[in-house]
Amino acid sequence: MQMFSESLNDDIFTDFIHSVKVEADRGTLIQEALALKELRETVYVSNRGYQSIPYHRDTPRASEDGLESTERVVESCYEYASMFLRHKYDCSIEKTQWWVNINGKNEFNVPHQHGRCDLMGLFYIAAPSQSGRLVIERNDGSSYNSLYDNVPMGRRLEIDPEAGRLYLLPGHLWHWVESNVSEDPRISLAVNFYLN
Ligand SMILES: [Fe+2]
Repeated sequence: MQMFSESLNDDIFTDFIHSVKVEADRGTLIQEALALKELRETVYVSNRGYQSIPYHRDTPRASEDGLESTERVVESCYEYASMFLRHKYDCSIEKTQWWVNINGKNEFNVPHQHGRCDLMGLFYIAAPSQSGRLVIERNDGSSYNSLYDNVPMGRRLEIDPEAGRLYLLPGHLWHWVESNVSEDPRISLAVNFYLN
């Protein structure tokens, strides 16, 4: 005897990760990042490696710090994120802040999120094998129960980042970076987008 009918299901409150390759001369970007590390001391936030001071889009300081190519990539990230946000969420960017991360051997980032940032972008300048996966975890109540234990990517996603690729994620998601066990630096550009 059939006792069920007309079942309905909607997946609700989903998050996303969206990525795209961005054309850039990564050799020059690596040089600029390593020179910046010599020029300016690290700030300490989630990093147990180097993190540059924050820069803002359209301010002259990045050029003064020799980051012309890096700024051009930030501009590309901004253009792509603007298109993405307009088409998918019908909104636009008010403010863009960015910085450079360099994790040498045995360096990592502890779990954190980006505060009031609406959309975060991560562009990988150098991502050698074994230089640390990016781990993203949901930060709603599902973290405290077992319902999604057996669902692939139900609560946690580990990414082996690809150099030259920009990843876009909701800014509220918790994330961290595993320890770099390779001999080469892992270099990324983090971009915070704040919406109007
Ligand atoms: Fe982060």
